[in-house]
Amino acid sequence: MKVLVVGGGGREHALSWKISQSPKVSQVFVAPGNGGTELEPTLTNVSIEADDIDGLARFALDENINLTIIGPEDPLVNGITNKFKDLGLKCFGPSKEASKLEGSKEFMKDFLQANKIPTARYETFTESDKAIEYVKKGSLPIVIKADGLAAGKGVIIAFTVEEAIEAIKNCLESKIFGQAGKRIVIEEYLEGEEASFIVITDGVTAIPFASSQDHKARDDMDLGPNTGGMGAYSPAPIVDDCIHDKIMQEVIYPTLAGLKKAGHLYCGFLYAGMMIDKNNDIKVLEFNCRFGDPETQPIMMRLKSDLADLCDKACDSNLQNEELIWDERKSIGIVMASRGYPFEYEKNKLIGQIPDETENLKVFHAGTKIEENKLKSNGGRVLCVTALGDSVELAQQNAYDAISLIDWEDAYYRKDIGHRAIKRERNESN
Ligand code: AMP
Ligand code: GLY
Repeated sequence: MKVLVVGGGGREHALSWKISQSPKVSQVFVAPGNGGTELEPTLTNVSIEADDIDGLARFALDENINLTIIGPEDPLVNGITNKFKDLGLKCFGPSKEASKLEGSKEFMKDFLQANKIPTARYETFTESDKAIEYVKKGSLPIVIKADGLAAGKGVIIAFTVEEAIEAIKNCLESKIFGQAGKRIVIEEYLEGEEASFIVITDGVTAIPFASSQDHKARDDMDLGPNTGGMGAYSPAPIVDDCIHDKIMQEVIYPTLAGLKKAGHLYCGFLYAGMMIDKNNDIKVLEFNCRFGDPETQPIMMRLKSDLADLCDKACDSNLQNEELIWDERKSIGIVMASRGYPFEYEKNKLIGQIPDETENLKVFHAGTKIEENKLKSNGGRVLCVTALGDSVELAQQNAYDAISLIDWEDAYYRKDIGHRAIKRERNESN
């Protein structure tokens, strides 16, 4: 099988690395890929951007690609799967219609409500005076969300009415998120612990990946601005068997059934961002129509099954007899970012001394490139140092030991990735 993986982040490095391990796969192209995928002997970068749907389709036809796997949300929301299907090309990822679960918060919230899937109470607004009136009457904190895709920046948690009003005006009047913010969802603030729950599905059968937890805040102790994710680990102990069943029964299956009923069979990875409160009640915070980044990196490190084969079978509506096999060890991925991220940062910084891959360590690349045979930074999130261990604490130690070897002056990373799980581990051993 010749496979094309679309995207150029840490998620796509981890997905394509895993896919190239399949005995059924003869060649893996990554478009556009990054410095890390360029250095992999089993992968070939193709310089076509992930949003160039026509260019990607042409490449898939010319190269006789048997299976295309889409990493990021943008091409999915813009209909890459629909286009590939029209051309008779096999493409793993939800259709444009089903991807609206991520592409529009309003669609997602209305869908959840209509299908009685638990989520925070909400209202949708297009006019700022009505939205302001609503927050003045509501309780604090309150959450303001741009309707469309805003690269992870479109959610503002307001702790005062003034902050809420500023967020509303920024979206609806100053249009800081452009078209994505011309409509906003305002929802109740939920307390609890978050977990990422990701499944592979053909629209009817859903097979859950190991659970994981992301760290969205930039700084230690979960402080600082929100980012795409500064690190993740798997499994997330908060998702015990009971919560796992609840998420499958109350969220995943009703979501797939609701979409099927609407005529949109969902084939792809489905990511439910969950909030779990102290009574073990669960609520959906968000859906993503793709794998999480950086959750992919620690999850792929633990996955023993043939991912390419599973994606291929999902496209053929043939997942019913499949299961996933896991390395029992824990894994952790720590993001090394350019200093300044998620705001202004410099690129083109030299990076050296990246430790070689071992059975329990892998440095996945995100914003990197190779120039004149040298590895350089080329984005906000640059590396994800991913390690396995018999406990989260040991995995964390392995990862930080590897980070200490990397030669890159400009690096910024959190020092406490995995802290919740490590606290639980220590409590359990006492
Ligand atoms: P979203 O893109 O909708 O997942 O939001 C990004 C992040 O904002 C989430 O991962 C949560 O940390 C936080 N968040 C979103 N909605 C809420 C909510 N209703 N209550 C509390 N935190 C939230
Ligand atoms: N790590 C969160 C996301 O991929 O959206």
